[in-house]
Amino acid sequence: MKEMKLSPSVMCISQWRGAEAVFKQLEAEGVELLHADAMDGTFVPNLMLGTESIKNLRKMTSIPLDIHLMIEHPEDKLSWFDIQPGEYVSVHAESTRNLQRALTRIQEYGAKPMVALNPATPIYMIEDVLEDLAGVLVMTVNPGFAGQRLIPQMLDKIARLRSFLDREGRPEVSIEVDGNVSFENGRKMRLAGADIFVGGTSSIFSNESTVAENIRRFRECVSMESGVGV
Ligand code: DX5
Ligand code: ZN
Repeated sequence: MKEMKLSPSVMCISQWRGAEAVFKQLEAEGVELLHADAMDGTFVPNLMLGTESIKNLRKMTSIPLDIHLMIEHPEDKLSWFDIQPGEYVSVHAESTRNLQRALTRIQEYGAKPMVALNPATPIYMIEDVLEDLAGVLVMTVNPGFAGQRLIPQMLDKIARLRSFLDREGRPEVSIEVDGNVSFENGRKMRLAGADIFVGGTSSIFSNESTVAENIRRFRECVSMESGVGV
């Protein structure tokens, strides 16, 4: 099973005033990625993190970005985001007629191309781009808003996707999960085969405890070794 990576979601940081302190806690806890949601108000009914905000994030923290593009025709807009080598960039299969072109363009930046799938989008949409992707972002809620509830059948979708990727000889391809990745859901998603976890309002940024303590609790809940309950 692939090493787990934590990708806290920037849009869930409630107080941007204290963002610097939050980033310090994230860095101190060694989170592997920072999830940055960009929304255009067309692909999803919301606006979030414009191009300048994403560029400013890089000045505020050294954590590599995990950019989630919820925008129409992303293949034509990649240059807007100053993508850096090693970053993860997810484009939605539903947002372009040129998915393979989008993925190869992301690769040209030295970044990791990821395909995001909405809950109703079947796994076979990635069947002919397996050579072009580093991972699949499984939306476990409908995209656009934080604080939603897990769509239950997404757990089975994660397991089917993991089996499909392994059967196709692509065990190195990651599965990222995004949406209501709570302490309890995170564990179920890990058991189903996920390895990158977008931490949002129901875990890392839940007001049950500090960000640092939430991170430690999440890793404990999700790590396979521990039988720790949630
Ligand atoms: C929703 C975004 C998610 C969101 C997750 O469209 O893609 O990254 O921030 O928020 P929670 O974890 O609260 O569902
Ligand atoms: Zn996201």
